[in-house]
Amino acid sequence: MLALNMIEIPVELGERRYSVSIGHGSIELVPELLGPFTGRRIVVVAGQRVWKLHGRRVGRVLRKVGRIETITVPDGERYKSRTSLNMLHDRFLASGLARDGLVVAVGGGVVGDLAGLAAATYMRGLDWIPIPTTLLSMVDSSIGGKVGINHPLAKNLIGAFHQPRAVVIDPAFLQTLPPRERQSGAYEVLKSAIIGDRTLFSSLANAPARLAGWDHIEIERAIAAACRIKAEVVERDERERGLRRILNLGHTLGHAFEAATEYRRFTHGEAVGWGLIAAASIAMRRGLLNESTFETIAAAVDRLGPRPRVSDLPLARILAALKRDKKVRQGRVHFVLPTAVGRVVVRPDIEDAELRRAVQVLAAREARL
Ligand SMILES: NC(=O)c1ccc[n+]([C@@H]2O[C@H](COP(=O)([O-])OP(=O)(O)OC[C@H]3O[C@@H](n4cnc5c(N)ncnc54)[C@H](O)[C@@H]3O)[C@@H](O)[C@H]2O)c1
Ligand SMILES: [Zn+2]
Repeated sequence: MLALNMIEIPVELGERRYSVSIGHGSIELVPELLGPFTGRRIVVVAGQRVWKLHGRRVGRVLRKVGRIETITVPDGERYKSRTSLNMLHDRFLASGLARDGLVVAVGGGVVGDLAGLAAATYMRGLDWIPIPTTLLSMVDSSIGGKVGINHPLAKNLIGAFHQPRAVVIDPAFLQTLPPRERQSGAYEVLKSAIIGDRTLFSSLANAPARLAGWDHIEIERAIAAACRIKAEVVERDERERGLRRILNLGHTLGHAFEAATEYRRFTHGEAVGWGLIAAASIAMRRGLLNESTFETIAAAVDRLGPRPRVSDLPLARILAALKRDKKVRQGRVHFVLPTAVGRVVVRPDIEDAELRRAVQVLAAREARL
């Protein structure tokens, strides 16, 4: 019965192709969805909080696939570290995990990125499957095969491309997600809509503030639409040689806001929310985006909820953080700019003066929030 309501999104990558299965209650279908892996040794890498909340249920279905051993990882970005990676390798070895083993990551983007990299590097690569439990990880980090950890001096510096063998998304996990984390993921869904889905955009723009009252059908549809966009982009540019960069819409300044506040003030999505408005304002100043579309985009961002302030951040600090970013090539700041809802371009030549003006626009909007 449930299977009929599942949404399947293929990620076509030749012999590395896989399916993203989305549906409320899809966790119960894990024995079926992971059928080809039946009998494998499974190491589950789970977030501590998530495992406390959902471990019994997830453990029960995974045991129908194979023998499982569970490793929990403490919550927080700081555990996406070399220490955690070493710990996972040690535990994989101690549990006798071999080339035919399977790593299943249950948690948000931190757990997915970490477990994915552990799987990519152990014995030159094990199969892995993310079961994302945050909105952000459902629509973004679990698809596309980018896995990694942080270096003490730079986020996501150590990583690999290692596509999962399947992705299982059960939006029911979101019921226990703290509201601020849910909102953080919603900004990423909006980002995807601005990149390539006008229908998704209008459903977000017309939704109740902070998506209050969105039931599971609406959430499921939005997740599927965002996953489709991510899958399409990844299919065309798996290793981020060009096109995949459009997924960084809102992220150039977004990352700078996060770094300039030592990652303490904003959730990632909140920083991206500000970054989306900034990108739209730069596009408008350049005559690439008309004023009313700028207003529509900015209003859609604001509807998702209040965000911590940006107006007190010294511009010099923002610019310094921006220039340390991986997206800066040969000293040039690459920027993804929206030219309409559903369309973006990449520009390599953004001037400091434009960035300054964009930050001023944000400060002015902040006063109205
Ligand atoms: N690989 C990629 O392509 C990619 C893309 C985007 C982001 N990322 C990475 O993702 C990470 C952020 O991921 P995130 O936003 O999922 O954060 P996260 O993994 O830190 O999870 C956020 C918090 O929510 C809790 N949580 C998770 N699921 C829950 C649930 N169902 N109920 C209650 N609590 C729950 C976690 O314990 C954690 O405290 C960053 O490290 C970022 O670099 C990677
Ligand atoms: Zn992001």
